[in-house]
Amino acid sequence: MSSPENHGPVVHDWAVTALPGTAFDPFPHRLLREEPVARVRLAHGEGHAWLVTRYEDVRRVASDPRLSRALTVGRPITSTTPHTLAPAGGVGRADPPDHTRLRKLIAPTFGRRRMTALREHTRREADRLALRTLDAGPPADLAETFVGPLAASVIVGLLGVPAADLDRVERWRAGLLSHDTTLPEGESVKKEIAGYFADLARHRARHPGDDLVSELAAARAAGGISTPELVSMSVMLTLNGLDAVRNIVATMVYVLLVHPEQTAKLRADPDRLPRAVDELLRYIPQRNGVGMPRVATADVEIGGVTVREGEAVHVFYPAANRDPAVYTDPDRLDLDRDEAPHLAFGAGAHYCAGAQLARMEAEVMLSTVLARFPGLALATDPESVGWRRGSVNRGPVALPVTW
Ligand code: HEM
Repeated sequence: MSSPENHGPVVHDWAVTALPGTAFDPFPHRLLREEPVARVRLAHGEGHAWLVTRYEDVRRVASDPRLSRALTVGRPITSTTPHTLAPAGGVGRADPPDHTRLRKLIAPTFGRRRMTALREHTRREADRLALRTLDAGPPADLAETFVGPLAASVIVGLLGVPAADLDRVERWRAGLLSHDTTLPEGESVKKEIAGYFADLARHRARHPGDDLVSELAAARAAGGISTPELVSMSVMLTLNGLDAVRNIVATMVYVLLVHPEQTAKLRADPDRLPRAVDELLRYIPQRNGVGMPRVATADVEIGGVTVREGEAVHVFYPAANRDPAVYTDPDRLDLDRDEAPHLAFGAGAHYCAGAQLARMEAEVMLSTVLARFPGLALATDPESVGWRRGSVNRGPVALPVTW
């Protein structure tokens, strides 16, 4: 449904539906071609916002300091989820200088050097989980026995969350990352998880370990971060580490299994894996609907449209990744593709803090799967694989495989 507002372009209703596999949402696919800067109204929040879908425009919006995240705090901007995922004080909703200060605090943990060191440990853990899966015999749910546990062990190790608390954190994850969680439910889960991380930081301030929560607790004592900022950072990192990686890597395995010719070439030449991972990141529409908007602090021209000061702007990174002006045959998977860098991790100041980590985990998991399971195949037909519904991140409910 589309309706004319008082003035300006029509406002489209974007009813985000659960899509199977890597099916691309037809609405942003059409806007990308027909109305690259459009007005939309989503299921939750109030009013309407701009939706930007073209590669160049998305990159510009993400890199323009006149588009603020701090100004989204306290505004019920139209959105895909009923509650705002990132609380105020979160790195995703801050502008410089607060944003710069927060990113600096976590940069060493997620930087290249630390990731190189973590790679060997992750590889050993991947081998252990793969061997355990092989020992149990086919069929197996690879998301449950391999991808999920590996993603969880890496992120809780980095942050210093005790393994015994993982079940609880997993329950909060499911609640927060569901579109069906109501506003009061979301608030109550947020309160619980905030209390948990505040307690953990208090404990680590007294008994520090070699982990990020201990570092953040020390930074708090030195006045470098407030308690709400610390809590929000820990929650965001935990949820992304658990959910985004599990869903996208499980989807990557699925995509490889339904493209056997390309996967055979990759098996024969594993040096192509880093490029293949980037193509998978470009190709897989990793989320349902949009994430956090930005608010214009001045009149800004985007793709020939003037966005007025105070108006809200959403970008849709998966659409930018399918822009025909940038990628040849954009809807086709091509593991050898060597075109513009994808925007799956965003761009500009809010570029994903965990991009190196996610890439490293994907490379380790896929190389382990290809090496340890030479005869891997789906244990059902591709259409029978179930996909998560009403969730922020898209991914298979289970990934039944045999070998
Ligand atoms: C393949 C998996 C992942 C994908 C596709 C992904 C994608 C993204 C995207 C698109 C953004 C938003 C950019 C924006 O706000 O405009 C983002 C931000 C962020 N991601 Fe990721 N992410 C992934 C994994 C992770 C992991 C593993 C972590 C950490 C454990 C992480 C931590 C963050 C943080 C902290 C931000 C906020 C950065 C900021 O606002 O400055 N992400 N990610």
